[in-house]
Amino acid sequence: MPKDFTNKLLEWNRNQNNRSMPWKGESDPYRIWLSEIILQQTRVEQGTAYYKKFISFFPTIVDLANASEKDIFKNWEGLGYYTRCRNLIATARIIAFEYGGLFPSAYPEILALPGIGQYTAAAISSFAFGLPYAVIDGNVERIIARYFGISTPVGSAAGKKEYIRIAADLLDIKNPAVYNQAIMDFGATICKPQNPLCVHCIQARDCYAFQKGMINKFPLKKPSLKRKKRWLYYFIVNAGKDKIWIRERTEKDIWQNLYEFILWETGKIIPQDKVHKTSFFRDNFGKRGFCIRHISEAFSQTLTHQSITGLFVHLNKPLDKVPGYQSVSKESLMEYPFPKIISDYIKNSPFL
Ligand code: ADE
Repeated sequence: MPKDFTNKLLEWNRNQNNRSMPWKGESDPYRIWLSEIILQQTRVEQGTAYYKKFISFFPTIVDLANASEKDIFKNWEGLGYYTRCRNLIATARIIAFEYGGLFPSAYPEILALPGIGQYTAAAISSFAFGLPYAVIDGNVERIIARYFGISTPVGSAAGKKEYIRIAADLLDIKNPAVYNQAIMDFGATICKPQNPLCVHCIQARDCYAFQKGMINKFPLKKPSLKRKKRWLYYFIVNAGKDKIWIRERTEKDIWQNLYEFILWETGKIIPQDKVHKTSFFRDNFGKRGFCIRHISEAFSQTLTHQSITGLFVHLNKPLDKVPGYQSVSKESLMEYPFPKIISDYIKNSPFL
């Protein structure tokens, strides 16, 4: 019964939930929004440090709206999913300049802001404004699927509808903020994806999956996707003494607004001893008497739809001009926001 679930969840929350996070109980919509954007694709442990850093650098939404994109991206560096950061900037500017710095307080207006989907709009509406919207994410779907034994796959169109209906039924409309935070905390600490704490769970007696011994069978998922493979060869070339060529990625692609070295992309890996024989190398460097001083090991990163491998190739001498690239001093390199594989390389390379 929906109300049994809700009553027990709230009882667990009152008596046993001791999860503490800096945004919990917060009512400033700017802080709530910021925490929710960070937590969209980031774990709480990692997100907390970024949340504190953003609050301290940009105490209000107007500060964030007035900051330079380079500073904001630099503070975001390492969190990944950079579309979030672009949308963060766009929303901050809309609220600062079109809403006079005041966060809108109606669900449809909140939902219309860049980077805010149903989950985030429900979280902000309930936490900041006490509005009765239930949050639904992978954690909530897992809890519902297990408790009610739902066999419609999550991610399917039918599943989406079904989970929305059940989540709305479960919500405590008198106190949506407490309920929404409680179900998130319950999913993170008790009804976890792996090794859930069923033995201590207050819902176990009425939980379908637990009673049938099928905890690991729920939620049912759609088959997983195939990732496109991309190989990025980064040529690290000096621009005179202690300067290096980099550029901002401006295309509509991964890592838009982040920086990179001179890039050559291929669809397959090239053996180390063949890089200097490729037409890219011959046309751009080989004909001008360049040779390769060092090629790094492979750095990998898995994104939602792509699997990326980056290699870093150091050349033996400087270039005076590289169209589309800018030269920056080695000391200032780390002021630029880079994709994770590049900043990892810069931090660890003996050559930089
Ligand atoms: N994930 C998304 N929002 C969250 C919140 N408010 N608390 C914990 N985890 C979350």
